[in-house]
Amino acid sequence: MTVFNFSAGPAVLPVPVLLKAQSELLNYKGSGQSVLELSHRSTLFENILQETESLLRELLQIPDNYRVLFLQGGATLQFSMLPLNLATAHQRVDFIDTGSWSQKAIQDAGAFVQTNVIASSEADHYRSIPTGPIRSDADYLHITWNNTLEGTTFTNVPQVDVPLVADFSSSILSEPIDVSQFDVIYAGAQKNLGSAGMTLVIIKDDLLQRTPDRLGSYLRYDIHAAHHSLYNTPPTYSIYLTKLVLEWIKEQGFDTVVQRNRRQAASLYAYLDQSAMFSNSVALPDRSRMNIPFSTGQTDLDQQFLQFVERHQLVNLKGHRSVGGMRASLYNAMPTAGVDALITVLQRFEQGER
Ligand SMILES: Cc1ncc(COP(=O)(O)O)c(C=O)c1O
Repeated sequence: MTVFNFSAGPAVLPVPVLLKAQSELLNYKGSGQSVLELSHRSTLFENILQETESLLRELLQIPDNYRVLFLQGGATLQFSMLPLNLATAHQRVDFIDTGSWSQKAIQDAGAFVQTNVIASSEADHYRSIPTGPIRSDADYLHITWNNTLEGTTFTNVPQVDVPLVADFSSSILSEPIDVSQFDVIYAGAQKNLGSAGMTLVIIKDDLLQRTPDRLGSYLRYDIHAAHHSLYNTPPTYSIYLTKLVLEWIKEQGFDTVVQRNRRQAASLYAYLDQSAMFSNSVALPDRSRMNIPFSTGQTDLDQQFLQFVERHQLVNLKGHRSVGGMRASLYNAMPTAGVDALITVLQRFEQGER
């Protein structure tokens, strides 16, 4: 059965990537071994690691003075690693609070250092990104670039005099970014980069000197950087899948992927904005192209719609339990046919079909 998977993560992967992984599963490049079985110290795996890094550097145009780390622990471990490694001078971190993942980052940093919210869209129920001038004199400023639950995204990089750290978990590689405007970019792999298990950290190398002496080895960015992500066993298969995803992006051209994302999100928003039944309440300039929450405004009707879509092979459209309603995640691997099918089903439901 073919379905269109709108999950927020782990999420849809490109079919050609899955087929390539399948074809290489039992015998990787004639080695007689599966990638799953390769030693992380083998030349075959070291080549996978190097190719993954160089594809990322090429696609995101990562400057040479940034290190690329492939870690474990999800984006969630970064909520602790960041303050432990970087908040060492003032023991203070500033945040822009844009919703639930920002709050989790604030909460975890608060276990180690002082946290301070310098801007928030809470008063607007997180339906927008805060605007206006900001000032920070903390060890760094943390932002959540794309807010997976609320369906908002930053479009302008905040300008501050301290290092800028950004959680790009749900939008990495969905659009071009100027890496040089950030000091740390991090993202879990399970949305736009591949499978769960790997977390990408792109860090400017001058920050590696901040790590204090008394910190366990796995938690140290400087150790991971010195060992090129091979200090301990990295998430080998997840890194391999990311390599396949990056090859898939490169083959089509990054710009083609970006334009497709824009078109697909625009067509779903266009439908929602003219609909008399469904709506999205995010401020227009701050709408995410990756995560699009919508609802009928009535819990019962939302429930009926969710049952209706399941009968049409559209899965994982239920909104996050804290937000309710529906959410369509349109990551890079969502084909246009999936968005078209969703819009058709929305229309049919709105016309009364059950
Ligand atoms: C923006 C954002 N940050 C952090 C996380 C947490 O990621 P992980 O589950 O990899 O720890 C998520 C997961 O959905 C997310 O969407």
